[in-house]
Parts: sequence; structure tokens; C-alpha cells
Amino acid sequence: MKIYADNAATTKMSKAAIEAMLPYLETYYGNPSSLYEEGQKAREAVEKARADMAECIGAEPGEIVFTSGGSESDNQAILSAAAIGKKTGKMHIISDTIEHHAVLHTLKKLEKEGFRVTYLPVNENGIVRTEELESAIREDTCLVTIMYANNEIGTVQPVKEIGEICKKHKILFHTDAVQAVGHIPVDVKADHIDLLSASAHKFHGPKGVGFLYARKGIRLSTLIEGGAQERGKRAGTENVPGIVAAAAALKESCGQMSETGERLKLLRDMLIEGLSEIPHSALNGDPEKRLPSNVSFCFEGIEGESLLLLLDDKGVMASSGSACTSGSLDPSHVLLAIGRVHDVAHGSLRLTLGDDATEDEIRYMTVAVKDVVNYLRGFSPVWRDLVNGKTKFIL
Ligand SMILES: Cc1ncc(COP(=O)(O)O)c(C=O)c1O
Repeated sequence: MKIYADNAATTKMSKAAIEAMLPYLETYYGNPSSLYEEGQKAREAVEKARADMAECIGAEPGEIVFTSGGSESDNQAILSAAAIGKKTGKMHIISDTIEHHAVLHTLKKLEKEGFRVTYLPVNENGIVRTEELESAIREDTCLVTIMYANNEIGTVQPVKEIGEICKKHKILFHTDAVQAVGHIPVDVKADHIDLLSASAHKFHGPKGVGFLYARKGIRLSTLIEGGAQERGKRAGTENVPGIVAAAAALKESCGQMSETGERLKLLRDMLIEGLSEIPHSALNGDPEKRLPSNVSFCFEGIEGESLLLLLDDKGVMASSGSACTSGSLDPSHVLLAIGRVHDVAHGSLRLTLGDDATEDEIRYMTVAVKDVVNYLRGFSPVWRDLVNGKTKFIL
């Protein structure tokens, strides 16, 4: 059996997305800024895609700027809000410790330019406490940037409450919704979101396409100078086939969201129940406030990379929370932020289900993970020390 269980990393393009893009590769390949028919057909398609995508998140078409993906959208949103703040002497930003690096690295860059950033801690399930957010707000706070849903542990933040707090204090609210859009309902107006980042390859669209929602009236700074595309907010000839495919993918994902979500939640919980039977293991993230497709675990006495390689041998494509930086293996900042100690954070596994996941696949993965964990513990010196009482179990 071959199972792709790494859908938080990227998804397979949907048939609808592939079919939608073909005419814009083969026939209407004109530049949308050109005046002849092939160009104008491409322009119409881009504008239709903009309207369709806006509708999926409750926005107006004019509030959508197409970008190259989540990272670019995060950068542009944060740098724009910072530029707005700087003009009025507001140079304080609030974020949290489990953001994606596209957000964290942009904030680090701003800190070097004199901005002050408060990184809110999260609770043991990875959720920001709204009371802490409210008390971190200062006179000079210009932006709150808190993600909608976490890419590693699947935790969904109380976005509506956060939006209400920001609105009350007249502070811009950006949310990195890369893992949420197309998977759980997102409504920018109901949630009082000012800026939102999304990426097509996370909802069955192509890689290298995304969008930034910016509420009407918010002045975006440009990251890329050049032509006047995207109303001067993002220079460069539009990726017409990619944009059209992204809209087709999002429309389909949003149409099937409640049905797919309910089905996936049952499968997710079945997998969580199965993996919880492994001794000295723990679920990462909130058991309820989590994405329907996300299963994230830590297993004590295990090294995550070996777990992944052996699962790959069994046909299961998964990921761990660890990131390999310059030859040394650093545990995930997200797992450390929810209180996992280094050794435990190293033994992490993330399985993110596809929309077409089946009960058979869940049963197969449960057995595969149990077998691999048992096998690895069999010759792990760390596990031996734990069993012999030389070191203490944490989980
Ligand atoms: C939460 C989150 N933000 C941002 C990104 C970056 O998106 P992209 O790969 O489209 O640049 C990702 C991708 O993994 C993500 O999961």
C-alpha cells in the first residue's frame, strides 16, 4: 500500500484545477495586459478567479492580490502593516511563538529595523490565550499577526475573538491562513480579519500561486517593483494558468468542505485513538480545536527521522516536526513551545490525511506506526535507559 499522508506539506492538484488551467496554457496564453482577444480572455479569467476566490472567504474581489504563495503573502502583509505603523510612530507588533518561519523571519527582520515584537506563549495545546493578547496591547501596537491554524500540530486559534479584540483596539489583524483556507470555514468579515495569507498548493491547486486578502482601504507596500499589475501592488505578468487553477481548486474544496471535514474528523480521531495505544506517546495539539486532517504525535525513546524512513519503506509518506538546519537536527520550535522537551520533540510524527483517505488506510497506518515504534525502541539506547530507570519517562 502507498499512502500519501503529508497533505500539510502540499496536496495533489485536483482534476478540476488541472482541467481549468489547460486552455490558458494551450489557447489563451496571451498576456492579460494585451488588448487582443487572447490577452483579454486571459484577463477575464484572472478577474473571474479573483471573484471566485474572494467569495470563498467572504471578501470583495478588489480585496484580493495574487502572489506566489503563502510566504510572499505573509511577507507583504506584515511589511505593509509595519510601514503603516511606522508612519504614525507605532512600532510594536504582537505575534506568537508557533508561527511559520515566513512570519517569524519577517518579524526578526523588522526587529533589526527598530520594531518591538511581543511573542505570546501558547498553552500546552498550542492555543493563544486571548486575555494575554489583550494585555500585551500597547499604545504603539500597529499589528497583531496570529496564524489561523498551525501547520505542525493542526491547532486552530480563536480567530474571531482575536479579530474582535483587534477591532476594539483599532489594530490591524493579519492571519496566516495557509493551512485553513479550503479546509475549514474562513470568513474575513465575520472574523474581523484585515489581512490574510493563503496558498494554492495547500488546497489542491498548483505550487507557486497564492493570494493576499487586504481589507479595502489598507495600503499595501510592494515587495516587487515593476509593472502596474495587481493595481500596482504586485508587479510581474500574472501567472494566468496557475491563478485559474487555484480558483477552480478552492471553489471545489469550499463546496465539499463540510462533507469532507466531517468524514476526515472521524478518520483522524480513529487514527489518534489507535496511536494513543502506543505506550509513552502523546498527541500534540488540541484534541478538538484542530484541523480535520491533522494527526501529530510524540513517541518517547524514538528518533523522528528513523521513524519516517522506516514508514517510507512501508509505503507511508509522512513528516516529523523536526527541521534539519545546517547539519544539526533542531527540534521544532512549535513542539518546544507547547512544552515538549528536546528529546521528546525529536520523536515526533505528523500524518496529514488527504480528502480521499479511507478507513483501510487508517488501519494500515496505525499498524505500521506501532510496528516501527516497537522496532526502533528495540535497539534505542535512550529507550533502554528509560526502561531500566536510568532516566525518567516524561510521557
Ligand atoms: C502556515 C504556513 N504558512 C506559510 C507557508 C508557506 O507557504 P508557501 O509554501 O506557499 O510559500 C506554509 C507552507 O508550508 C504554511 O504551512
